[in-house]
Amino acid sequence: MTQTTPPDDVLARGKAYTGDGVTVYYDPPRCVHVANCVRGLPEVFRPRERPWIQAGNAAAERVAEVVRTCPTGALHYVLAGGPGELPDRPTTVTPVTDGPLAIRGDLVIQTPGGEVREVRAALCRCGASGNKPFCDGTHARIGWRSGGGTAPEERGDDHPGPGQRADGARESGEQ
Ligand code: SF4
Ligand code: FES
Repeated sequence: MTQTTPPDDVLARGKAYTGDGVTVYYDPPRCVHVANCVRGLPEVFRPRERPWIQAGNAAAERVAEVVRTCPTGALHYVLAGGPGELPDRPTTVTPVTDGPLAIRGDLVIQTPGGEVREVRAALCRCGASGNKPFCDGTHARIGWRSGGGTAPEERGDDHPGPGQRADGARESGEQ
């Protein structure tokens, strides 16, 4: 089977932040923890500033590399002239301790709003998300316990606070 690249415009959801040769897209409801982006490129992902994503502060390829570490699909990118993001093969499903199922691959996800094409997603397994089938961080607010999986601190993407988003806008909705 050949590996396919979902078209950039299909993956590009949310607000756009344009830098030199790269545009980063951020979809706030899909962001449920703080870390991989901020830790990977603190000069680009700056939760205390506005805009919180300053895509021009690093080389385009490096920005793309860090965006690909976002496990929830809250972040995507479009490089000027490509290439687009290739889905991981084989598809992997990783239960996160006390959290969602982290999935990476060539994904077609059925949602109440229709079919969503994805390469990365965090799916709710506590049953309490307000954005099903996606995790929205509610598991942390309600103290849901799974009893197994990969600990967030071991993956390097733990929450600083229950349900906190990378842009620091959990309560205000600001971007
Ligand atoms: S903090 Fe949010 S945007 Fe950043 S890597 Fe995690 S889920 Fe993605
Ligand atoms: S697993 Fe995160 S909201 Fe259900």
